[in-house]
This record gives sequence, C-alpha cells and structure tokens, in this order.
Amino acid sequence: MAASLAPAANIADPTIAELISARPQLSMHAMDGLLVDGLPLSHVADEVGTPTWVYSAATMRARYRALTTALGAARLDVHVHYAMKANDHLAILRLFSREGAGVDVVSGGELRRARAAGIPGDHIVFSGVGKSPVELRLALAEGVAQLNVESAEELAMLSEIATAMGRTARVALRVNPDVDAGTHAKISTGRAQDKFGIPYADAAALYAHAAILPGIHPIGLAVHIGSQILSMAPYRAAFSRVAELVRALRAAGQAVGVVDCGGGLGIPYRNEPAPSPAALAGAIAGALHNLDLRVMVEPGRWLVGTAGLLLASVVLVKHTGGARFVVLDAGMNDLIRPAMYDAWHGIVPVAAAEAVGPVSLADVVGPICETGDTFTRARALPPLAPGSRVAILDAGAYGAVMSSAYNARGLAAEVMVHDGTFTVIRTRQPVEALWANDRIPKSLE
Ligand code: LLP
Repeated sequence: MAASLAPAANIADPTIAELISARPQLSMHAMDGLLVDGLPLSHVADEVGTPTWVYSAATMRARYRALTTALGAARLDVHVHYAMKANDHLAILRLFSREGAGVDVVSGGELRRARAAGIPGDHIVFSGVGKSPVELRLALAEGVAQLNVESAEELAMLSEIATAMGRTARVALRVNPDVDAGTHAKISTGRAQDKFGIPYADAAALYAHAAILPGIHPIGLAVHIGSQILSMAPYRAAFSRVAELVRALRAAGQAVGVVDCGGGLGIPYRNEPAPSPAALAGAIAGALHNLDLRVMVEPGRWLVGTAGLLLASVVLVKHTGGARFVVLDAGMNDLIRPAMYDAWHGIVPVAAAEAVGPVSLADVVGPICETGDTFTRARALPPLAPGSRVAILDAGAYGAVMSSAYNARGLAAEVMVHDGTFTVIRTRQPVEALWANDRIPKSLE
C-alpha cells in the first residue's frame, strides 16, 4: 500500500518562520513583507494582481547546478534531461537549456514546446506510455536523441513508421522493475500493476527482438518508478535490477550503452527529511559505476518545485461549522495538488505583521463550488483579513501546468524573478479567451 503524499498526522507542521528559513530564496522584511530573492511579493501583487505564479530564476539555476555538481562528484557520465511536464514555460525551458540541460518530453505538444524554446531535437528524450503515430513521426522528423519505448506494441509501431520514413529510431526500453516507490498511489509508476514500462521478465527478449527490427536501434534501458520519492531504498532496488539486466543483455551479446534513471527525487514540502542529489548520485553510482554507461536522469519537481509559489489574496474569512474558513482568490483550478494528492503546501502571509500574529486553526479554501477545493484543513495560521495576501509555497512543479479554467476562471499570470527585478512571463488569460473557440450550431443561432 503506497503512502499518501500527506505525511503522517503525527508530524508537526513547520511554523511560518521555519518554512521561510528553510527556503533560501525567501525572507521576511519588516516593512516590505515576504521577499523572493529580495523582491517584495507585494510589488508583484500590486502590479500584476492575484492569483499569480512567481518563480525564482536563481533558485532553478542553483538547483540545476547543485544536481549536476553532485552527479559529477560521483564521477558519472550523466546527462540531465529536465522533465518539462513539471513546468513547461518557455522561459524555464530556456533557463535550463542555457545551463546545458536537455529535456524529457511526453507528448508531441511538449516536443513542439521544447523546440519553440530553442531546444534542438538531439537534446530531447521522448517518454510516455501512449505515443501516437503522429507523435512518433514528429519525434523522428525532429531527430530526437532517444525514444523510451514502453511496450512491444509501441516498438512494432515505431519500427513500421521509422522504416517508412527511412529513419532509424534510437530506442531505450523502459522496464518496469516492480518496485514500490513508497509515494502516493497516483504517482507510483514502477509497480508491476502500473501501466508503465515493459515487464521486467520480458525485457531481455524484447531487447533482442528490437535489435533485429528494421528502423530500430536499441541503445539502452530506462526506468522511472514514481514521483516525490523521499527514500533511497526504492531507487537502489530499481537501479540494481536495471544493472542486472544490463549485465544479462551484454552476456547475451547485446550492446547497451545508455541507462536513463528517470526522475522522482522528492522535495521537503513539509520541511520533512528529503534525499539530496548526492544521495541519488550515490544510488546511481552504487548500481551502475563499473558498467561504462552513459547515464541520464529526468528530474522535474526537484529542479522547479521549491522555486515557485502561488501568490493569492484573501477574498473573505467566514466562520461556519465551528471552523475558520479563509477563502482565497486562487482555487483548485490553479493548484490542484492538494485536491488530487492530499498534498501539503506551506502557506505564508505576505505582510510581515500578519506573519507573526498569534496562530489559530484555519481551513484555507478556494472559491470553487466543490468541497475538494481546499488547500489545507486545520492549519495554524495568524489572523487574515480580506485583501491579505498569502504565498502558497513549493508550487513551481505541477502547478501552472496542471491548471484548468474550471468555473470559467482564466489561467493565472506567471512572473519570473530575476536579476533583482521581475518579468511577467505569461499574462493573465482574459476570460474571453475561454470561449473564443466555442462555436454555436446554426440551429441555435
Ligand atoms: N520521467 C518520467 C517518465 C515521468 O513520468 C516523470 C513524472 C518524471 C520523469 C519527472 O518526475 P519528477 O522528477 O518530477 O518527480 N502531478 C504529480 C506528479 C506526476 C509525475 C509524473 N511523472 C504531482 O503533482 O505530484
């Protein structure tokens, strides 16, 4: 049974001061309130309004460098492919590609987005359990570095398409190692019952088959066991199974040059202990160090999660059923993680005076007509009033990308803090855009 993303109830919530001090880009200024890299969030809210996503470019860059440094220190020939599903904004793709990263894409749309950000095809790995013929054709036409194939059926389809196009697809077989990552059931991907990957027992035979299929050049293996992984044991188990498979394939005369170790490294949403990139590097090196492989990793959340927050305003505070409900102008349509995975996100008042007020329990909710539109229940928070602003922390990954326009709420604006200033990197979506593509049948005109 996979654990919930919400840690056990007996773990105490960190205080507001603890949340701020554990995040290097955040600080509280007596006059200006909560700052991101020295920039007052109140300025952003005044100029851009709320709800607004705010990203620290410096944090993303620092985390990318920390990751590559840790992997380099483990003396791995390792290449980072940012899993852009976590946050696919062009500015963020550009930032990581300037740092030297490639990307991991999971759809034709992501592939085209990556290309629009200027990322060349040979820096792109294409993963995903259901790539359509159109997407496979696009991948081959763009010359992607690697296609991570997840089934015999997909391999056959790819062989046919590549042959017809006169191309050769560089393929890694994604194996399902049957390892429980110990994360939320909805984001566990490496158990035998999950839809992902090729059953471990079938992988060697399929690899041999791939080697003789026209249009296919098998170059290695891939594994990804889940997301928001907070312990190293499942990683070690998965990597050692992959290493075992590399040895078996080589013993059978197959060439295996690449292992893609996937993503999944978790972040301390609740200030809980979380593994470091050095621990991940150690787990990879421990399993793969003497196999002379090109190693790849596909982190998403770890690179961008803590670098972003959702800035929101309090619409009103109501007392009902014995509870204090703080109703925000941000909702589950903006940040769905609490509703979808019971995810815990820190919530910090933006005004300095409010942040140090005496705390009492509050439910923080959105304005949407669903009880699930709840960011948190029974959180110790100071008094908040209409117009107060709050930052919902660690929302850089799987935040804006998972937004919807439910309840006809346009997508929120996005802001990047950089070089002591900020840029609106996506303007707030005007509501008219929500029905711009609607068409009314003649009979109803
Ligand atoms: N590679 C593959 C093949 C993946 O499926 C994923 C994530 C990643 C890499 C990146 O994983 P990360 O390093 O970000 O954990 N919406 C959920 C998370 C879904 C993750 C899906 N796959 C959430 O909000 O927690």
